[in-house]
Amino acid sequence: MSTPAHPTAASSPPLHVIILAAGQGSRMKSRLPKVMHPLAGKPLLHHVIDAARALNAGGVHVVVGHGADAVRQATQADDLQWALQEQQLGTGHAVAQALPQVPDQARVLVLYGDVPLTDITTLEALTSLVNDETLALLTVNLSDPNGYGRIIRNDGEVTAIVEQKDANSQQLLIQEVNSGILAATAGNLKRWLPALSSENAQGEYYLTDIIAMAAGEQMTVAVAQPASPEEVQGINNRAQLAQLERHYQFSEAQRLMAAGVSLADPYRLDVRGDLQVGQDVTVDVGCVFEGTVVLGDDVVIGAHCVVRNSTLGAGTKVEPHSIIDGSQVAGPATIGPFARLRPGTRLAAGGKVGNFVETKNAIIGAGSKISHLSYIGDAELGEQVNVGAGTITCNYDGVNKHKTQIGDGTFIGSNTALVAPVTLGKNTTTGAGSTISKDVADGELAIGRARQRNITNWSRPEKK
Ligand code: UD1
Ligand code: CA
Repeated sequence: MSTPAHPTAASSPPLHVIILAAGQGSRMKSRLPKVMHPLAGKPLLHHVIDAARALNAGGVHVVVGHGADAVRQATQADDLQWALQEQQLGTGHAVAQALPQVPDQARVLVLYGDVPLTDITTLEALTSLVNDETLALLTVNLSDPNGYGRIIRNDGEVTAIVEQKDANSQQLLIQEVNSGILAATAGNLKRWLPALSSENAQGEYYLTDIIAMAAGEQMTVAVAQPASPEEVQGINNRAQLAQLERHYQFSEAQRLMAAGVSLADPYRLDVRGDLQVGQDVTVDVGCVFEGTVVLGDDVVIGAHCVVRNSTLGAGTKVEPHSIIDGSQVAGPATIGPFARLRPGTRLAAGGKVGNFVETKNAIIGAGSKISHLSYIGDAELGEQVNVGAGTITCNYDGVNKHKTQIGDGTFIGSNTALVAPVTLGKNTTTGAGSTISKDVADGELAIGRARQRNITNWSRPEKK
């Protein structure tokens, strides 16, 4: 557990992170625990845990209470330790629940499970200040400090934090507030926390009271500040969640534009995961990127597309309203409009998956085109295959899935049903409207349909 915390601080004691996530979050009006609500597609708590991991913490301790089982289940990981706070008696009480698992010599960083966007550099700056004689506090100046604990200074030195509900009218004017995030050594916390009292306006054991204790012992209370207030913005209701989501998305948009992406509108883009981009990528409005997505140079994404866990090679053009999931596309290729590439699709260079075409578990060779209204599933298409409109691979017999193989240069006539398992050789052709259930050898034409009869002397029924 006590591996050195940070490579640049080999001599300093290990860093342990305690994440407070026991509160109810009643203002969310939700059955889902507050810290499980997603921001950018990821639960709030998981953002905080990832930050702790990025700090190379020697231990990450999550304090849970309300919805503890749900939180634990959705978060299970080998590198986490859990502490249960059965009754939420305050932030000081919450930290005390995790502290027995933390070695005395460790430095402790306290984070909140509902404050998801703190920068790693900010946290590093904060934790670098901590030692046996120094407590480190992350504060922020707000034009509207309402609701926060106020930072009390005396001759410039921080001497205490006063909670909003305990503050007098003079203190309420103070605009420097407590973010809630602080760092101290475990040894000091273990001395201070048992001494907390709940004699205050909320009847809680305030973690913030340790500031006055430290100051009373002539210790230094060092202060760090984040680059922007959003870094310490906590989520209490859905409006704040939506606001912080927009903030996150706008900074993602800025990052992408700085990397050479043209966005039709940086306010109409959503990245829920890791979006990696080449140069001169263009993204139209209303696109959503989920999971790990890689876009090569010159990729163009039309309006209102969803791309999830996929790679699009250089020069690929995606027309509007397409959904690409779990797919690998070599560039350049053409997709959409209204295409749906489901997991296991591999589209080679020069290939096309056109409008109202659904593919799944399909390998589509170079230059092969499925231009309109088709379903291609569990199939392998060679190169330069042309699939006519309305072609269906009948891959499912009601119990098992079967494979369709189509050789290079084949031409599938419109409205062909390919009843798998079935193999078509190279340069085969199927007649439009055929139901193909038998293999076709190289170069053959396969026609599997009722022959047309023209009936003469036939009269339409007449109305009685
Ligand atoms: C706290 C700070 C306040 C600061 C503010 C920043 C205290 C006493 N006050 O106030 O100075 O300005 O955060 O947002 O610390 N939690 C538990 N167990 C508990 C109580 C809280 O796990 O018994 C967790 C909550 O789930 C939440 C966090 O601690 O993630 C903060 O609790 P909250 O009640 O929101 O604290 P505030 O009153 O906002
Ligand atoms: Ca709060």
